[in-house]
Amino acid sequence: MKLQGFRGGRVVASFADPAAAWDDGAVAWAEGRIVYVGPAANAPDAEYTECAAGTLVTPGLVDAHTHAAWVGSRHDEFVRKMRGDDYREIAASGGGIKASARAIAAASEEEICAALAARLRRMAALGVTTVEVKSGYGLEPDQERKQLAAIAKVASYTDVPRVVVTFLALHAVPVAWADRRAEYVATMAALAAKVGRNKQANFADAYLDANAFSIDEGRAVLGAAKGAGLGIRMHIGQFQDIGGAKLAAELGAASVEHVEQLDDAGRRALAEAGVRVVLLPTASFVLNQAPPDVSALRAAGLRLVVASDANPGTAPTESLPLALALGVRLYGLTATEALAGATVEAAASLALGDTGTLHVGARADLVLWDLPHEYALLQPWGTSRAVRVFRDGQPLVGA
Ligand code: NIG
Ligand code: FE
Repeated sequence: MKLQGFRGGRVVASFADPAAAWDDGAVAWAEGRIVYVGPAANAPDAEYTECAAGTLVTPGLVDAHTHAAWVGSRHDEFVRKMRGDDYREIAASGGGIKASARAIAAASEEEICAALAARLRRMAALGVTTVEVKSGYGLEPDQERKQLAAIAKVASYTDVPRVVVTFLALHAVPVAWADRRAEYVATMAALAAKVGRNKQANFADAYLDANAFSIDEGRAVLGAAKGAGLGIRMHIGQFQDIGGAKLAAELGAASVEHVEQLDDAGRRALAEAGVRVVLLPTASFVLNQAPPDVSALRAAGLRLVVASDANPGTAPTESLPLALALGVRLYGLTATEALAGATVEAAASLALGDTGTLHVGARADLVLWDLPHEYALLQPWGTSRAVRVFRDGQPLVGA
């Protein structure tokens, strides 16, 4: 059994535990799993890469909310938004999600795979080792199947970050179904059950908002998904609080996302049901929205996740580190909240207990950074400071 590792720099095993960090630390792994993390002085014999002082080793970042399987570009909409057009007006005039759906319809499965894999490799270069990827730009059942198949294919690659697949079953009503909304929802509920039965996804998601789908529509589709074994994630409260938190609690959802708008009763319902809250600061930055009430979320005892929301409309970025910088600057997250939110809490929201922290037996998903301390990860670098990135002990970046 060949043991390899890093020794010498600052090693942080968990962002949630201040005691789990050593200035002269070491981490060692074999066959993809961590076998030691702690002070360099006690480290077992291994083939170590000696780290210079002023470098940092941490768990790989976990991006728990992305729409990364998109093709095409919506730069025209960004320009319109900067001129003052509203995201919802752009969507109502055939742009937004529907523009990305036209691009997916025109693309082959191979083209979607290529776009996603390239994007995931750029994410790896930023220190990300696990990415949740949603469908939701197919809209038409056949196109959703195609997008999901592309995501599943890329999830089998070993030279990209680990992919967790989410079937985003309700995102927008496709143009051809505009007069058959109820039939569309029933069709997507049946498809969600099938996706669950065939194990084509880990989670299902729905966009519940005044300009999107209702609570009852969400319950029909996500209830079917849950019955077929899928975990539940939900876009709620991005523009209006229509009561999505209560449904999330009712369904035992893993997470709710966005929550710019969320009332006290909603926060309590989420806390009682142990639903995590995924904050997406890049999206509210792009839409020029006020942040969610983070102190109220904290006071309710909610576990916070920070994710990129990578998508061509509201968060045209691939950068989880950018979301972290915006999370501390615009949302007032503490350093620990932000860093834990993009590692251990993000992994927990994806039901992954063996990544997000470095502990014996965990997957060797880790990053060597050209930075002296984990707080430096929160600064808006605009360039990557990840020097070497490993997934399951195999190099993704900087072999
Ligand atoms: O998370 N709000 C819904 N979905 C995405 C945006 C999708 C898009 O504009 O393409 C979001 O912000
Ligand atoms: Fe999203």
